[in-house]
Amino acid sequence: MKALVTGGAGFIGSNLVKLLCDKRHEVIVIDDLSSGFRKLVDERVKFYKGSIADPKLLGKILPGIDVVFHLAGFSTITYSMTNPAVYFQNNFMNGIILLEAMKKAGVKKMVYASSAASYDGRKKTPVAEDDPIGPINPYGASKLAFEHAMSAYYHSFGIEGIALRFFNVYGPNDEQAESTRAIPQWLKAALRGRPMPYYWKGRQKRDYIFVEDIARANLFAAEKGRGFRVYNVGSGTGIWMIDILKKIEKILGRRLDLKDMGERSGDPKYAVADTSRIKKELSWKPEVGIEDGLKRTIEYFKTNVI
Ligand SMILES: NC(=O)c1ccc[n+]([C@@H]2O[C@H](COP(=O)([O-])OP(=O)(O)OC[C@H]3O[C@@H](n4cnc5c(N)ncnc54)[C@H](O)[C@@H]3O)[C@@H](O)[C@H]2O)c1
Repeated sequence: MKALVTGGAGFIGSNLVKLLCDKRHEVIVIDDLSSGFRKLVDERVKFYKGSIADPKLLGKILPGIDVVFHLAGFSTITYSMTNPAVYFQNNFMNGIILLEAMKKAGVKKMVYASSAASYDGRKKTPVAEDDPIGPINPYGASKLAFEHAMSAYYHSFGIEGIALRFFNVYGPNDEQAESTRAIPQWLKAALRGRPMPYYWKGRQKRDYIFVEDIARANLFAAEKGRGFRVYNVGSGTGIWMIDILKKIEKILGRRLDLKDMGERSGDPKYAVADTSRIKKELSWKPEVGIEDGLKRTIEYFKTNVI
């Protein structure tokens, strides 16, 4: 297959690109490097530094593409609370520019990096795709809004759209400089001997899924997904944040200094996936458990980031 990966220089995109190249697919990457890194992009791909908001560039690279993996976007919940319009512009409107360019170039399928932030984490856990949605922060709303656009582009123009609602992704290549994601923040702090900031005293339940499992889910979606369909992608198991901290302590073999940051707005209490649908329809299930995944992530941070 000939694939275009938007956001292929980012954390998840770069892991997906590697998997696609390993499976001998032909891959093109477009990334404006706003939060990604050129060094993370596999050497086997053709790389375009540019934005998905540039229809001229898209018109040049889209013809002949079988599937677009759309991962480009802004993904920090706290910044979306201070800059909602910027998030809607990039995650929604720029995605429409991409869909329009696909329509024009005759590209018939998109696999999209949607988010667990589509759900209201206060209502039900674990949460399934047909449970009530209701984002509680602008980031979640911008991601969900684009799912609706994909539905419209499938029913109106025949562009198939598989939206994957990733839960909490962790693993190698998560190098965002100002990341507010817990695991990279904690690992950087722990390895530098600084206090590890944590919220809500760690009493939030999350569903952590290793990035290679997410990459595999994207590939399965491209190969087996049909029409317009939404899938949760998570481990299917909830873990308290405080227990992740304890696991990191255990792997590093020492007690860590914690910094209680209190509460934080925009944070759901629960985000745990019901993964029955993706298991049944795409035959996907996670292969990397949390301890193995954390060990591999710590090794990566020790070698590449610290
Ligand atoms: N990391 C998670 O836990 C998680 C969970 C749910 C969903 N997602 C979604 O997965 C996708 C990838 O997230 P990530 O964690 O790899 O983040 P990331 O910031 O590492 O990757 C995003 C990439 O998109 C690029 N980009 C942003 N706007 C662009 C534009 N207009 N044109 C071209 N490139 C652009 C950035 O430079 C970056 O390389 C995002 O869409 C995010 O919303 C991530």
